[in-house]
Amino acid sequence: MIFRKLSVGDSPLLFELINNVESALEDKNFWLPLNDTAKEHFFDISWTEFFGFFEGEKLISAVGLFYNEHEFGESAEYLGIEKQGLAEVGRAMVHPEKRGQDLLLKMLELVKKEAKIRGVKTLLATVHPQNVPSRKSFLKAQFTLEATYVKASGFERSIFIYKL
Ligand SMILES: CC(C)(COP(=O)(O)OP(=O)(O)OC[C@H]1O[C@@H](n2cnc3c(N)ncnc32)[C@H](O)[C@@H]1OP(=O)(O)O)[C@@H](O)C(=O)NCCC(=O)NCCS
Repeated sequence: MIFRKLSVGDSPLLFELINNVESALEDKNFWLPLNDTAKEHFFDISWTEFFGFFEGEKLISAVGLFYNEHEFGESAEYLGIEKQGLAEVGRAMVHPEKRGQDLLLKMLELVKKEAKIRGVKTLLATVHPQNVPSRKSFLKAQFTLEATYVKASGFERSIFIYKL
């Protein structure tokens, strides 16, 4: 299994994984609908970097680092924290057949290093309060639960923070 940054050439693999993950969701509220602005910037490194585990040619898990406040602004403002030096770790996904191996936890430990290289000081993540595998993974990766709120879009999210 290899962990690496995704490049634009991996885009079909990422969208295939997203489709697989979306069709296996136990609760649709766990996954915020993808908006066009976010999607357009998936491979714009000033905005987003995706990383993932590959088994051979197959992408089996992925997670994004989002550097633009389009992604994390609402949660940062809710907490009243500085947006400078902040990045969101989001769009965590594991292929439905590959769950149960702590892959999200492993990815979180690896993206912490990537974020540090980028000069990020604080990581923020938002998770649906009932999304147990996601919540457990962030807590095990030493993120702290700061608050739970309802976003303007109507989705409830717990906000987690990790200081690098
Ligand atoms: C969130 C996600 C990435 C985690 O995948 P994963 O790394 O394979 O997670 P695991 O299945 O290894 O589970 C992590 C922990 O949660 C526990 N867990 C998993 N499913 C559970 C459930 N339904 N109820 C209770 N605990 C559960 C596991 O036992 C494990 O805990 P442990 O290490 O103490 O045993 C994956 O579930 C996923 O892709 N979900 C759909 C997309 C999504 O919700 N993304 C998150 C957006 S914030």
